[in-house]
Amino acid sequence: MRVAITGGTGMIGTWLARELRERGDDVLIVSRQRPKTPEFIRWDANKGIHDLDRMEGLDAIVNLAGEPIAARPWTTVRRRKLWESRVDATGVLLRSLGRLDAPPKAFIGVGSIGLFGDQGEAWVDESTGAGDGFLPELADAWEQAQLAAKRVISSRTAVLRLSIVLSPTGGVFPLMLKPFRIGMGGWLGHGRQFTPWTTIRDTSAAFRLLIDDDTAFGSFNGTIPEPTRNIDWLRALGRATGKPVITHAPRWALRGALGELADSLLIASIRTRPTKLLEHGFSFVDKDAEEAFRWLISEVEASR
Ligand SMILES: NC(=O)c1ccc[n+]([C@@H]2O[C@H](COP(=O)([O-])OP(=O)(O)OC[C@H]3O[C@@H](n4cnc5c(N)ncnc54)[C@H](OP(=O)(O)O)[C@@H]3O)[C@@H](O)[C@H]2O)c1
Repeated sequence: MRVAITGGTGMIGTWLARELRERGDDVLIVSRQRPKTPEFIRWDANKGIHDLDRMEGLDAIVNLAGEPIAARPWTTVRRRKLWESRVDATGVLLRSLGRLDAPPKAFIGVGSIGLFGDQGEAWVDESTGAGDGFLPELADAWEQAQLAAKRVISSRTAVLRLSIVLSPTGGVFPLMLKPFRIGMGGWLGHGRQFTPWTTIRDTSAAFRLLIDDDTAFGSFNGTIPEPTRNIDWLRALGRATGKPVITHAPRWALRGALGELADSLLIASIRTRPTKLLEHGFSFVDKDAEEAFRWLISEVEASR
């Protein structure tokens, strides 16, 4: 297969690209950066894809581009960047792809489980609508912009909604690990909120399913089948690091430091089911938090 990945230099894209190459696919990395290898295709998220001819006849494009959501508090400037790099950039991408004689057969996007907002104890699946607040609005607009690929370039279109993706190679996990290793880790807020997560190996496998399965359309929740309460999740990390977890970061402190980001990403309770992925035969390797953390720690240690 020939697959292109926007944002393919990032944490998820790098892992996915490697696994696709390992199974024999040709992978193009669509990046704003200066080309590092012949696989790179440069694009400008405001203007479009340079060297568009190289994108003719792709089997799939995976759209992972976007400013990091959790990196900094959501100031007005930051909110605009998060929006432009997702909603507006997707429009630019689709307009470029629309100029191809043979646009990608499949457009696979990424979305956010943050779409649902705080849902407390209620179960949510793909039939549940968007919640209120900046993150649900952004996630909804981003998802709709990507689902428009069906109309704009007549591709089979699917979006995988993610929450916290745990990887030994980047993102939040190596940052989480540091305080837990020295016994300073703790749960967030009251800790009873459901915190949806996946490991990078399951996330990458879910993207591969959506690339390969011609019957996969629309939005897919992409997090573990039985979400963990935050306190249980982080106590599992404590057991995996061999350090007790007896403290927590109070809600007021998280809010003071991070504002709405804390409510939406750390405190919100989202008890989500990946109903459609399971119906399409997907099976998660990592469902148990402690086993997942042990795998992640062993990978971090092996790479030292
Ligand atoms: N990791 C998670 O836990 C998680 C959870 C939910 C959703 N997601 C979403 O999944 C996608 C991939 O996640 P990731 O963890 O791999 O992210 P990442 O490591 O931050 O990579 C994202 C890539 O997007 C591109 N990018 C960054 N800023 C951009 C901008 N202003 N305009 C256009 N492109 C920009 C960059 O590629 P170039 O510099 O090469 O252009 C970057 O490598 C992101 O959209 C993210 O929001 C991730």
